[in-house]
Amino acid sequence: MNFNRRTFLAASTASIMLPRFAMATPTTLRAEPVLAQILPETEPLTQMLGFNGSTPGPELRLRQGETLSMMFENQTDQGSAIHWHGIRIDNAMDGVPGLTQDLVEAGGRFDYSFITPDPGTYWYHSHARSWEQVERGLYGPLIVEETNPPQVDHDITIIVDDWRIERSGQLAGNFDNTRDFAHAGRMGNVARALISQASVREGDRVRLRLINTATARIFPLNVSGIEGVIVALDGMPLASPLPVADMVLAPAQRVDIIADVTSAILVQTPTRDGPFGLGRIEIDGTNPNPIATAIAALPATPTATPADTPSQSLTLNIQGGAMGGRHGGDDIWSFNGRSGLTDEPWANFARGETVRITLVNETAFPHGIHLHGHHFHEVASDGSLGPLRDTTLVDVRETREIVCVFDNPGQWLLHCHMLGHQAAGMKTWVNVA
Ligand code: C2O
Ligand code: CU
Repeated sequence: MNFNRRTFLAASTASIMLPRFAMATPTTLRAEPVLAQILPETEPLTQMLGFNGSTPGPELRLRQGETLSMMFENQTDQGSAIHWHGIRIDNAMDGVPGLTQDLVEAGGRFDYSFITPDPGTYWYHSHARSWEQVERGLYGPLIVEETNPPQVDHDITIIVDDWRIERSGQLAGNFDNTRDFAHAGRMGNVARALISQASVREGDRVRLRLINTATARIFPLNVSGIEGVIVALDGMPLASPLPVADMVLAPAQRVDIIADVTSAILVQTPTRDGPFGLGRIEIDGTNPNPIATAIAALPATPTATPADTPSQSLTLNIQGGAMGGRHGGDDIWSFNGRSGLTDEPWANFARGETVRITLVNETAFPHGIHLHGHHFHEVASDGSLGPLRDTTLVDVRETREIVCVFDNPGQWLLHCHMLGHQAAGMKTWVNVA
């Protein structure tokens, strides 16, 4: 991994602040051109797209069971739509043009409205030319709070992202670069953590919500200055919290941590030249009354229990790309020899069916495979059901089994969240009836 030297130096000392809406959640999301300070303050602003004047867009924060009603106004010059990543919602609200709704044309509007069934850390992003529109800034955090949230002093969102920025300070164009598509995707030369808060006190208890919004980059992450545990993955609570060790976040994945602050919090990613500072939260004073209770697991989210024996076992061969062997699809990437969306779904499921899917990565690149509308279990190597996820990282030549109860009716996308791979064929869909 190589980051541009001038930003490498500056990014170690300054964090970009996320816009935070202290007031009520907005009722309109207006996609529009914005100027963003991606580079350090002495460098030019970057022309981006954003929501309601900023990129990332405003943090949407609701309580579990509340209704999110959002008028989407498209003030960009391209058709768009908003996908609410990871939320188990009504299919009609899923935001996939061509599958669940029509493209919202430039100047057009669309009303989204759904109940937020599960608490957790989610995000929203454009699902039209996403490899371009997400890269240009059309995304934001979506936080659903528990009915009884765990006691913390600060609830902090940390977005990690990268951008490919030219000498002029502007985003590199050529979003449809087939060389990027056929390799690991569009990697940025600038990487930052966007953090919703600048400082904490020593002894504070914090909840950190990490979200990887990059279009292609897998972020190995190290968070120092805290003592605590990982309590949720992709929004779903872990029955047994995990130690905060080094983490790996594929594009679209999230990690929730609850921890006590011991010193300035540093978010770093390892590089060939040593740890690279993505962002930090400073210490400002000491908490005179630290929370003394032990950090506990989050309350379980009620989800369907998979049947002991799946009623279908399917294999999804991930194929194509540069240096790849078998392909068969008519584009750069394919699933089971087919590229892109077909008229007929890849699979049909009866509502409530337990299905085992074996993901076989035959390619020379890792892929973060995302299923819409559901969470699935990653199957551990001993065959036991692992954590619930909505995006699973399948490494080069790796095979990963997942088990899913398809209990949400509708037409759901299954695709690589390396968005250039999705653009170049790595997507399909399933039908749950
Ligand atoms: Cu977050 Cu189909 O995407
Ligand atoms: Cu991929």
